[in-house]
Amino acid sequence: MILMNDFRAEPAELVQREVAAVEKVIKSGWYILGNEVKNFETAWANCCGVNYAVGVGNGMDAIEIGLRTLNIGSGDEIITTPVTAFATVLAIIRAGATPVFADINTETALLNPVSVERCLSPRTKAILLVHLYGQVQDMDTWVTFCKHANIYLLEDCAQSHVASWKDKVTGSFGAWGAYSFYPTKNLGAIGDGGAIITNSENIANQAKILRNYGQSQRYYHSELGLNSRLDEIHAAILTIRLDWLDLFAARRKKIAQAYFDGIKNPLVRLLAKPIDSKSHVYHLFVILCNERDRLGSYLRERGIDNLIHYPVPVHHQPPCRNMRCDPKGLFHAESYTARCLSIPCHPQMSDTDVNKVIGVINEFR
Ligand SMILES: Cc1ncc(COP(=O)(O)O)c(C=O)c1O
Repeated sequence: MILMNDFRAEPAELVQREVAAVEKVIKSGWYILGNEVKNFETAWANCCGVNYAVGVGNGMDAIEIGLRTLNIGSGDEIITTPVTAFATVLAIIRAGATPVFADINTETALLNPVSVERCLSPRTKAILLVHLYGQVQDMDTWVTFCKHANIYLLEDCAQSHVASWKDKVTGSFGAWGAYSFYPTKNLGAIGDGGAIITNSENIANQAKILRNYGQSQRYYHSELGLNSRLDEIHAAILTIRLDWLDLFAARRKKIAQAYFDGIKNPLVRLLAKPIDSKSHVYHLFVILCNERDRLGSYLRERGIDNLIHYPVPVHHQPPCRNMRCDPKGLFHAESYTARCLSIPCHPQMSDTDVNKVIGVINEFR
């Protein structure tokens, strides 16, 4: 089976260095918020071109903590996309704020500014962009939009590790960016992990307090925080894996290019090509097909794994059914989620695997 991710096929040198890093942490006798976390935070901030990175427990907490650093909570609205991981929206709700859903562009599946405009209200505090599948688009538009509306620009970068728009990395355009290091992400730990990146010293300090029970000094609590700390073992693994991030991203881009060149089936549509080689890191490669479910089964029967990101738009999930949406509806999000299909696109795929995926898709009738 050509899998969606294949960690067991990773380079032996990477695995050896990871095992050595884990051994070092075990032997150090220090497991939470130590030097490994500090080192990784510095390395990740440098890689993203920002002043600060604060390691947290996972990507969802990164968003919740980020919102809380800005005092966004009860009574505040955050406009976001319904085509995202449920975690994006759950984080908004857990911070006490109210999500409002705008529609997407059909070419990219990213938020549509015209729809976002219709969702603005006096209670809007921020737009939470999701750089879905690893794409970053139109950041000049969003920066200007948020400036005019006098609201925060926030970025969910769980899928977009080091994707960049005009040489600025995702997460560095607004108040903060929230990253996930879930194992399948382009930069992943061997368990849960996340980080907030920011240029604001104040946001970074507040995030450090919130991730550790709201503790400003040991056993002194200025806030009601969370327990959401990045573990030393995961930080050590992430530091090692950072050395492979560019290489792995380059392989993902090469596979995506082969798909753009090779997939030629009138029943299958591809999303828009990125504007340049840095504005998409292909966390996922997604195709569209009116007979999506039949195509998914057909691929699996021929040894090609696939997934749907996402089968249900968030505003149709039971806990979110009464939430406010674009008054004109979310037609594009709804039709998109009925047609999208993610096909394998990971760094360990061989050229033979890639050619097989192309050939099998082209034979679908
Ligand atoms: C777009 C998006 N946001 C947030 C998250 C949440 O990240 P985590 O699983 O680390 O909490 C994910 C992870 O699946 C995601 O894809």
